[in-house]
Formats: sequence, structure tokens, C-alpha cells
Amino acid sequence: MDRRDFIKKSAMAVAAVAATSLLNSPVMAAVNEYINNDNTNKTMKKILILNGSSRRNGYTSALVDAFTEGAKSNGNEVKEHFIHGMKVNYCLGCDMCMKTQKGCVQKTDDMNTIYGDLTWADVIVFASPEYWGTFTAELKTVIDRMFGWFNLDTNGGARKDTALLMTARGNDYSMALDQYHIFTKYLEWKDLGTVLGRGKVDEARRLGESIK
Ligand SMILES: Cc1cc2nc3c(=O)[nH]c(=O)nc-3n(C[C@H](O)[C@H](O)[C@H](O)COP(=O)(O)O)c2cc1C
Repeated sequence: MDRRDFIKKSAMAVAAVAATSLLNSPVMAAVNEYINNDNTNKTMKKILILNGSSRRNGYTSALVDAFTEGAKSNGNEVKEHFIHGMKVNYCLGCDMCMKTQKGCVQKTDDMNTIYGDLTWADVIVFASPEYWGTFTAELKTVIDRMFGWFNLDTNGGARKDTALLMTARGNDYSMALDQYHIFTKYLEWKDLGTVLGRGKVDEARRLGESIK
């Protein structure tokens, strides 16, 4: 073997060793994980359901359960908060969240768990029976407190998709829909659909399935 051949073969051997160690390296593992996660994220949404019913097995929860089943069947991740029984204080109306951009001054109630999940979620689903034409006090209290989350400097302008599930004894949802459109428009969130009515479980399941 002449000097040229020796150098060429040595260079090839070094390159082969380098390529093998690169393929097995933590760097490649991280790259692969990133690529796989990226693919996963493209087909999976994180969905937060805020259930404002007082009854875990009532009409509204039946829509929530069907929606959840549909959404999970597509590989979406779903978290539900059944607000009744959680400790969520009223908004104090102090405007400190607007003034400081540091979130709500009330730092210890269960709304703080919900704040974290609002940030986590891609899609926020509001679920409620109709009480006197609109949402229950449970859900309205959470929506009021969302003001603190939206006014947090890191979350202002966070775009979310949203949906509404509601049941009522009658079929006039006009006031609730107005309210839903008022705050989602203010937040510039995109409505993915509404399911309004007791027993509309198939519609709720289809709405869940449509989330990709
Ligand atoms: C305090 C209260 C107020 C209600 N107000 C209305 C109303 O304004 N319009 C209506 O159609 N139904 C009204 N209902 C009926 C509920 O919306 C309906 O029974 C709903 O499906 C219950 O949902 P749930 O099974 O999740 O509790 C009211 C019920 C209660 C307890």
C-alpha cells in the first residue's frame, strides 16, 4: 500500500467510525425524538374541558363524555375540570392583572391549576347547562377569572381554538351564545363548533372526532 492509499483508507476508516458514533450519539437520539415528537404534535391536540354543570352524571356531562370519547379516538389528549366542588374564588375586579401583567393576585385557589391548563391546552371547551339563559355560576366564575390569565404578560394574545357544549330544558340558547361569542371574539379565539341540546351525544362525539 502506497502512502496515498494508506491516507485514503485511514480517512475512510475514521469517517466510518465518526458516522457510526454520530448515529449512536445522544445528539442523533435527540434529533430523532424531536422529529417523532414533531410528527406526533401535528396529529394531536391538547384539549381542556371546563365543565360547569352541578351534576357529574347529568345531561351536560353526557355531552362532555361523548365529546371526550370522540376526541381521544383521534389521539388527542383531553383534560376535564369539573368545576363544581373545586375552590374557585370570584374575580375581585381589582384590575391588578391588567396593571401588573403578573396574573391574578389570588394565587392559592384551584383556579391556579386551571390557569396552568389554559396555558397547556390548544383547545378550550366550555360545557354548561343553561341557567337563567346562560352559563352556570361555576363556569362564569372561571371565565371571569380567565381575565387574570389573559392579562399575564406571557399569555396575552395566546391563540386558542374553542368549542361550546350546552344543554337546557328548552331550546333558546341565544343569550348563552351571545356571551360565548363576546369573550371568544375579545380573546380572538377560533370557534370550532357548538353542540346545544340534551341527548345530542352523537353530535358531541363527532365534534370531538373532528379535532385534529
Ligand atoms: C337554576 C336553574 C336554571 C335553569 N334555567 C334554565 C333556562 O333558563 N332555560 C332552560 O331551557 N333551562 C333551564 N334550566 C334547566 C337546565 O338547563 C337543564 O335541566 C339542563 O339540561 C341541566 O343540565 P345538567 O343535567 O348538566 O345539570 C335551569 C335549571 C336550573 C337548575
